[in-house]
Amino acid sequence: MATSRSAHDPQLIVEDDAATPHSELTQEQEARAHDVVARILARQASALVSTQGQDHSLDAGEWEKDARAGTRRVRGFTQDRSEISEVEYRQVRLERVVLVGLRTSGTQEEAENSLRELAALAQTAGSEVCDAVIQRRTHPDPKTYLGKGKATELAEIVRAHDADTVIVDEELAPSQRRGLEDVVDAKVVDRTALILDIFAQHAKSREGKAQVELAQLEYLLPRLRGWGESMSRQAGGRVAAGAGIGSRGPGETKIELDRRRIRTRMAKLREEIRKMEPARRTQRLSRRKGSVPSVAIAGYTNAGKSTLLNRLTGAGILVEDALFATLDPTVRQTRSADGRVYTLTDTVGFVRRLPTQLVEAFRSTLEEIGEADVIVHVVDAAHPDPQGQIDAVREVLSTIDGVDDITQLLVFNKADLAAPEHIAWLRTAYPDAVIMSAYTGDGVDEALGRIEALLPRPHRAIDCVIPYSRGELINLIHEDGEIDLEEYDPQGTHVVGRVPEHIFALLSDVVGTGAGSQGR
Ligand code: GTP
Repeated sequence: MATSRSAHDPQLIVEDDAATPHSELTQEQEARAHDVVARILARQASALVSTQGQDHSLDAGEWEKDARAGTRRVRGFTQDRSEISEVEYRQVRLERVVLVGLRTSGTQEEAENSLRELAALAQTAGSEVCDAVIQRRTHPDPKTYLGKGKATELAEIVRAHDADTVIVDEELAPSQRRGLEDVVDAKVVDRTALILDIFAQHAKSREGKAQVELAQLEYLLPRLRGWGESMSRQAGGRVAAGAGIGSRGPGETKIELDRRRIRTRMAKLREEIRKMEPARRTQRLSRRKGSVPSVAIAGYTNAGKSTLLNRLTGAGILVEDALFATLDPTVRQTRSADGRVYTLTDTVGFVRRLPTQLVEAFRSTLEEIGEADVIVHVVDAAHPDPQGQIDAVREVLSTIDGVDDITQLLVFNKADLAAPEHIAWLRTAYPDAVIMSAYTGDGVDEALGRIEALLPRPHRAIDCVIPYSRGELINLIHEDGEIDLEEYDPQGTHVVGRVPEHIFALLSDVVGTGAGSQGR
């Protein structure tokens, strides 16, 4: 048991089903557990390395970061549950948290990686991680997720740290969450709720906000539990006794009221989202109509997609050492070395076991990827399990229509953070990938060259004379087409080359259907 620990002394407890009580851990085991938790909690040493102290001159989103940090934590938010509805309670920002992982299969290293990511997620959500616990069990307990004994132990750890929340590294069944909450007497949040919370904090556009709120409510609806008698430590018993929110209808229990409110809100959100869809579609269509080649940057959260976009286009968009800084797609226009215009779109970060509610919520964002000409898949070169991240991203990509037909380029970013032998291994394991660092600039030119080589080339052949009065058409051909011959005839400019479809259509209007072949 964890009685000898001070409240500020984070530890990791790893035990088997037939576990040794914690007090009987040898010194060596204690030291090892300590080491593990230090690794999990230390962001500096992980692939989620903080770039503090590095040049952030690329960041032009400072104000936005400040604003976000300001809304992140609600210290001192009333913990008296009698004064808030359960829906509000579930949305209270997390503060002091204890992480819990179960290792049912896989290696210890995988379990640690997963918990390390959970720690980063929790920190991104604005919480302070006090402790982490991994239990080894063949399967989760159907009632309390952890075994009963371990759950009781967790309750003591929570109390010792004065933590307010336990975060479980998996999606819990509603009954499991309830069971564990009753034993630990603190709020239990699962991985899905945590990710939803982060998305809620990061959504910027009206549509993004509405989509995330809808996903949150969809998740919450079947999980409302009502205040239980046993959760009385903070509740003070008033809710359980029937007091609380004042607007309750006659004969309607509080939980029914919450459910009714949620359904009403969800209907309203769906309606709002439905109304916003046409505008988005028009925007997308107008981009596609111009047939400007488009590149979508996809990748695991925190892989450095936004930083890469900044590097490639010189634009200043929000870059944050946090997961899911980017929710709403950012589109930037740029030019290839040979002068062709194309767009680059930064997309929402992916994560292992992305909540299904969110995949649905961001379907329209994901569809942008499905309409791109090239997908740049960015991977964190310093991550201990790059293939795991690649698989997670590919799994989500595979749900998008049309993705299989799109050329993909794998780009390992953050090479500056990886050991030379790891880089050497990446080069062997992924011979077609580009290895670069958006931070130092190494490999950026190669990445750009490779991306531009993959852009679709204009395929409509032209050979025509364009009247001097239509000089704007010549400009368009220079911008988006490829010119083999340009000479000045008495009737106009004689151009031979290739143009994209939309320019070909314009030319046909001017010089007739002969634009394509000897239209002179
Ligand atoms: P999401 O919005 O979560 O999807 O993240 P993202 O993939 O857009 O990552 P972002 O560009 O926000 O970068 C995440 C963190 O990694 C930031 O702190 C960046 O400064 C840092 N970073 C990005 N590229 C590099 C790199 O090449 N080297 C180093 N050392 N840090 C980098």
